[in-house]
Amino acid sequence: MSKDSVTITDNRTGQSYELPIEHGTIRALDLRQIKATAEDFGLMTYDPGYMNTASCRSRITFIDGDKGILEYRGYPIDELAEHSSFLEVAYLLWAGELPTSDELERWTHGVRYHTMIHESIKKFLDGFRHDAHPMGMLVSTVAALATFYPEAKNIQDPETRKIQFYRLISKMPTLAAFAYRHSVGMPFVYPDNNLGYAENFLNMMFHGREPVGSLNPNSHHSPILARALDVLFILHADHEQNCSTSSMRMVSSAFTDPYTSVAAAAAALYGPLHGGANEAVLRMLREIGDVKHIPEFIAGVKRGERKLMGFGHRVYKSYDPRAKVIKYWADRVFEVTGRNPLIDIALELERIALADDYFISRKLYPNVDFYSGIIYEAMGFPTDMFPVLFAIPRTAGWLTQWRESLEDPDQKIARPRQIYLGPGKRPFIPVDQRVPSDHVNGIV
Ligand code: CMC
Repeated sequence: MSKDSVTITDNRTGQSYELPIEHGTIRALDLRQIKATAEDFGLMTYDPGYMNTASCRSRITFIDGDKGILEYRGYPIDELAEHSSFLEVAYLLWAGELPTSDELERWTHGVRYHTMIHESIKKFLDGFRHDAHPMGMLVSTVAALATFYPEAKNIQDPETRKIQFYRLISKMPTLAAFAYRHSVGMPFVYPDNNLGYAENFLNMMFHGREPVGSLNPNSHHSPILARALDVLFILHADHEQNCSTSSMRMVSSAFTDPYTSVAAAAAALYGPLHGGANEAVLRMLREIGDVKHIPEFIAGVKRGERKLMGFGHRVYKSYDPRAKVIKYWADRVFEVTGRNPLIDIALELERIALADDYFISRKLYPNVDFYSGIIYEAMGFPTDMFPVLFAIPRTAGWLTQWRESLEDPDQKIARPRQIYLGPGKRPFIPVDQRVPSDHVNGIV
């Protein structure tokens, strides 16, 4: 018997099965041979929320939640945040290696070359109500891009795939900024290809307009802010098989084009449990209002009345390494924008929570969202833009994961199984013989 295996005894039949273990997993399909009777379908696993199911093998992002480690292609996130740029990281994700200076030059030039969007896209944006949520506009216009680049359907061609990567990385900031400009009734600002990636985005967002809520109206011209935003983009570029990335893989497993698949991934990101938590942190900090209210707030959390937003993570059971980097950048941003007073409440909340047994025993630490909203707000981004700011860099991760899944011979169209618990077969009842039923979740 191989040591790298597990033996399962089916107590219904007394039969034992030896299943190979590879990379700490067994293949779910190996369970199918375990049958109570010859007609039996075979054993399946039940795993809502994919709590313990690896849906793919990946070589892109590594997370060790217990140790607080996050690496892209083996490079620690804090080193990338310190030494790299977002475009370099996007290249690293896609290509698997950091670019040489010549490769970086060509990649950066290519991204700049693709920043414009077709003029007709502006008409789409004009069709939205003035108060439309920018994320709704982003999701729709990314999907619409598929109709402008029909050749993108040719997903088996590596060259075509590469061009869509250039296009999407380049155009997401333009779409995002245009969505924002529409929501504030301001004329669109075209991309300026002389500017860096984050710098260009800030310019398209805020040119000719004081950033809403910014503590220092002219701060968006500061290179420190552009660098801080670039770092935030690095931190959000990928996070392995989270909800939006899994959506990307699932939708594109039907060979859907990358624009429509990215729209689906962005739709998943839109949800408050995924890309919307930093907004909830801001609401919470405002509600607390003053450091003197923190003990009372924490007591409510411990009584289970509410959650401390921005704390806890499904994977990280120690300090989220991204939160550490963001905390460092918060101070640098505030030197330019002025200090966002919410940071004092956040710091004190963190100090008290990290000394409290409720949080210690449950391994609840600040996650990426605890400080990011405070920085975005200080930079002048309205809270509606927070999920959009997440979607821009995550596009690099979504597309890299998409490409990896297409190149993986193990992958198939995603099609989970279910445990059917509904009624058994029964005859159709004519409408005049039906009686109202108490247990029906009616729609009338
Ligand atoms: N505040 C207070 N208690 C908490 C919190 C929190 N933020 N998070 C978890 N707990 C408690 C929870 O009540 C449970 O306690 P008990 O064992 O007494 O029932 C215990 O900790 C374990 O929590 P869980 O709900 O089983 O953990 P989970 O892995 O299902 O949830 C989470 C992870 C992120 C949804 C959750 O921690 C949470 O809701 N946090 C606040 C929202 C938030 O900040 N979300 C952003 C996540 S990071 C963004 C990203 O990477 O996409």
